Amino acid sequence: MVAEEKNNQASGINSNGVIVLKNLTKKFGEKLVLDDISLSIEKGKTTVIIGPSGCGKTVLLKHLIVLLRPTSGDVYLDQQRIDNLNEDELNQVRTRYGFLFQGGALFDSISVFENIIFPITQHYKITDWGEIDALVKNKLSMVGLDGFQNFYPAKLSGGEKKRVALARAIALNPELILYDEPTTGLDPIRSDVINELILKLQKELGITSVVVTHDMTSAYKIADRIIMLHKGKILADGDADYIRNHPHPVVQQFIHGQIDDEDLLILQSGETTSPSQFVSQNSKK
Ligand SMILES: Nc1ncnc2c1ncn2[C@@H]1O[C@H](COP(=O)(O)OP(=O)(O)O)[C@@H](O)[C@H]1O
Ligand SMILES: [Mg+2]
Repeated sequence: MVAEEKNNQASGINSNGVIVLKNLTKKFGEKLVLDDISLSIEKGKTTVIIGPSGCGKTVLLKHLIVLLRPTSGDVYLDQQRIDNLNEDELNQVRTRYGFLFQGGALFDSISVFENIIFPITQHYKITDWGEIDALVKNKLSMVGLDGFQNFYPAKLSGGEKKRVALARAIALNPELILYDEPTTGLDPIRSDVINELILKLQKELGITSVVVTHDMTSAYKIADRIIMLHKGKILADGDADYIRNHPHPVVQQFIHGQIDDEDLLILQSGETTSPSQFVSQNSKK
């Protein structure tokens, strides 16, 4: 069988890889977003994906859990190909993941308690409510919010909402957690609480994490490995020191938060709604 052959090839790439992408290409219509990416996510480690806005970080993250299917190429979880599974099979596979997607997306009309048990109710019929109470208490304690069970999301701050979303993400004791911009919109102190939680989940529970961020403070703090995406390809891949000292000018521009030539060209070309004033003021200086 073709799938088996590919399985064997994937296990040959890197036996430590819990998730392996092989020659992954993603197009939306004619638009090429991911261009032949091969990547192996190591078990128990925190891999951080950085890159400019719109470069395909979220698209890449969604392929790791097959919320998007590749245009070509394969996705493997523990050496088993998963991008070709049907939705029922995928739902089973997805119980091994927790994910914290952009926006956090708590359900506003139900309590913190109900939000946290939501993923459980999707997969299991609850019979022992005592056990569920204890589980929710345990998950909320992990994120420092035990006692918030009966609150509604509207009463919570941005940082608290993210922490409840994280408690929900760990409700099914995942082996892997995917985070999409977990610190975006938070002030530095609240961001650091999230960084510490990501580290704690890795250290105490051995969870494999993949974190998309453009917050370099967060990236340096939590990453075992940082991967920079640019123009559909992996431009840089290494630990924090390696990335800090990377010779490529685009990497340096990105990590220092400078606008790159291409972005500047787009601004100057007048394609955005009101760039001319901004650009002309700048160029007068
Ligand atoms: N479902 C989709 N349909 C069409 N284009 C999409 C879709 N999802 C993402 N894209 C495009 O893919 C590119 C990468 O998006 P994304 O991964 O969200 O970027 P980011 O790096 O900011 O997370 C963007 O140009 C975006 O418009
Ligand atoms: Mg994104």
